Amino acid sequence: MSKATAVAHSNLAFVKYWGKIDAELNLPLNSSISMTLSNAKTTTTVRFDEALPHDKIIVAGEEQDPTGRFAQRISQHLDRIRTLANQQAHAEILTENTFPVSAGFASSASGLAALSLAGSAALGLNLSERDLTILARRGSGSASRSIPAGFVEWYAASTSEDSFAEQIAAPEHWDIRDVAVIVSSEEKAISSSLGHKLAQESPFWQSRQPLLPQRLDTVRQAILDRDFETFGRELEAEAISMHAIALTSSYSTNNHWHSGIYYWTPDTLELLLAVQQWREDGIPVYFTLDAGPTVHLICPAAYEAQIQDAVCQIQGSRNWSTLVNAPAPGAYLVIE
Ligand code: PMV
Repeated sequence: MSKATAVAHSNLAFVKYWGKIDAELNLPLNSSISMTLSNAKTTTTVRFDEALPHDKIIVAGEEQDPTGRFAQRISQHLDRIRTLANQQAHAEILTENTFPVSAGFASSASGLAALSLAGSAALGLNLSERDLTILARRGSGSASRSIPAGFVEWYAASTSEDSFAEQIAAPEHWDIRDVAVIVSSEEKAISSSLGHKLAQESPFWQSRQPLLPQRLDTVRQAILDRDFETFGRELEAEAISMHAIALTSSYSTNNHWHSGIYYWTPDTLELLLAVQQWREDGIPVYFTLDAGPTVHLICPAAYEAQIQDAVCQIQGSRNWSTLVNAPAPGAYLVIE
C-alpha cells in the first residue's frame, strides 16, 4: 500500500455556483467560472495501511474525532476513491492549509481537490485531469475548479460524467489580483449547503437563471481578451445577483423564521460602498463575495498596493486582515 502528497489551491468564483440539481452527486444548477488562488492552498498526504482500524485524519497536527462530521466527510470521499481502485484499506491523512479555515476561502475546494489527487495517486489510479475534476466535485462542488490551473470553467450537466471542469486560460495569461479583506473570522452561521438547497425557493431565482448563459459567455470572453472593465462589471453584478438569491431564501431554525440568508456583516457593506467610491476616484477595482462576509477586491496587479492602502485607510482600529492572491497552478503531486 502506498502514499502520496498533493497540493491544491482554493478558488474564487466570478460566476457563482448557487444551487444544485442533485445534492448527492453535486451537480450544479448552472456552470461557473473561477480563478485558483495562489495564497490559499492545502497540502495533503494520504497513506493507505491495511493495519489501520479506521481512517485517521490529522489536520495541522491535530487528530480529528473519527465520528465527527469533518472526518466522516473525508472518509466518505475516501470510500469513493477506494471503490474506484477496488481497495478496502483505511488511510492516514495529514492535511494543512496556508489560510485560516473560516476566512472566506473555500477550504473544502482546495481540501477535497488535494485529497482526490493524493488519494487516487496513492492507490495507483492514474486519473486524467477531467476525471479528477469529477471525483473532486463529488466531495465538494467547487473542488472541481481547484484541479485545473488559472482560470477555470465547471460545466453544469445532467450526468456526472459531463459535469467536469477545465481550464479557460493559464495563470500567466492575466496578471490580476484578489485582495481579500477578511472582516470576520467567526464561523458563518449558515452553511453554503443550506444556501444551495434553498436557492430555488427564492422568488428571484427564476429571473437569475436565464441571464447566466450570457453572463458566462461575457466573463469567459473578457478573461480571454483581458478586458478588465467588462470583466469587473459582470463579476460585481454577478456577486450581487447570487446574494440577492441568498437574501430572499427564507428558512427556519429552531422554529424561528428568517426572511433570508445574510452572509454580510456591516463591515462587508462598508467595503462594497468604498469600492464604488474608489472607482469614482479612478482606481480600477471591483468586488465579489462568496457565501461569507469576506470581500474580494479584484484589480490589475499594478493596483494591489494602492488598494491595500485604501483598505487600511477605512479600516481604523478594526481587526481586519488581507490576503492577496494571484492566479495559481492547478493541483499537483509532490515528489518525495
Ligand atoms: O462548494 P460550496 O458548496 O462551498 O459552494 C460554493 C458557493 C460559492 O462560493 C458561493 C460560489 C462558488 O461558485 O464558489
